[in-house]
Amino acid sequence: MAIVKYWGKHGQQLARNPSLSLTLSEAFTETKISYKALEKVVSGSDAIQLSFTFEGKEEPAFAERIKKYLSSLLPVFPFLKQLDLTIDTKNSFPHSSGIASSASAMSALALCLCSIEDRLFGTLSSDQEFDQKASYIARLGSGSACRSVYGHWSLWGETGEVKGSSDVYAIPMADQVHPAFERAQDAILIVSEHKKSVSSTQGHQLMETHDYASVRFQQARSRLHRLLSALRMGDWEDFGRIAENEALTLHGLMMSSNPSYMLMHPNTLRILNATRKYREVKKVPVYFSLDAGPNVHLLYPESVKEEVNEWIGSELSTYCKDGKVIYDHGGDGPEEL
Ligand code: DP6
Repeated sequence: MAIVKYWGKHGQQLARNPSLSLTLSEAFTETKISYKALEKVVSGSDAIQLSFTFEGKEEPAFAERIKKYLSSLLPVFPFLKQLDLTIDTKNSFPHSSGIASSASAMSALALCLCSIEDRLFGTLSSDQEFDQKASYIARLGSGSACRSVYGHWSLWGETGEVKGSSDVYAIPMADQVHPAFERAQDAILIVSEHKKSVSSTQGHQLMETHDYASVRFQQARSRLHRLLSALRMGDWEDFGRIAENEALTLHGLMMSSNPSYMLMHPNTLRILNATRKYREVKKVPVYFSLDAGPNVHLLYPESVKEEVNEWIGSELSTYCKDGKVIYDHGGDGPEEL
């Protein structure tokens, strides 16, 4: 879940501004790659031999995207053209509805690819080297995925104030965050499970000619500066203000792009308004964020988890598709199974 959003890219999957996110625990992808040596290596566009299933079914559109991605990685992983690959992958949450499914899927895939490289050639000796390569590879699949190879908080994009930050891979930030943000809660309110009408990739493209582009990229930088300080200080109030502004800015950019589009649903707005009201009346630190979709993320400290979860279950879940809420929290990140 991104707090300062990546929205706008250039070159080979490079972001127009740095972004920072929280890696969740319950919303995850499980990916298995099996491989064996090919008897005959082919060249050209059919260089990648792949069978692919998503949640146990063949999905030609996903398979095509993955094949293209793997072909684009041949300069980095030339061994891929010598393997017969089988990829089986599944998510614990609905895909293509703005719950960072591409981030989850592409980071899982990138981690598997780096594990194969390491097993075959022993080239990624240190954990840091492994993680940075996985993050770099994930970025080439989907920008936001580069942050998801780490648990907890991670930062993508060079910023003078964080040593080691980079435009080409993300870095972990867990050790630069106050304990008040440990196990930050993130309840995902599923307003709709439909595939969104405009993909994030198209959204990024629209930023290239957006009237507000340059001021937006500047704004993201100054919000990142404030967010880093809020995370260091344990300041939930400022954190929440930034998260909500970023969410509404993202959707404002969509609504004001050319052509304009809208991903929020009426129930999205009902939840946002109810959250602000609850916070004001109950004086409980609970804030919303949105990714590129209608579903709402509610963010709050673990200390208020019980009362907030009860309120979500009794009041807000009525705005959700079949009452569906994923009660999630910051997690330790990917695991090798
Ligand atoms: C709204 O990473 O899905 O989630 O790089 O084209 O694959 P591509 O886009 P993607 O963009 C999602 C952006 C966002 C905000 C964020 O994660 O920072």
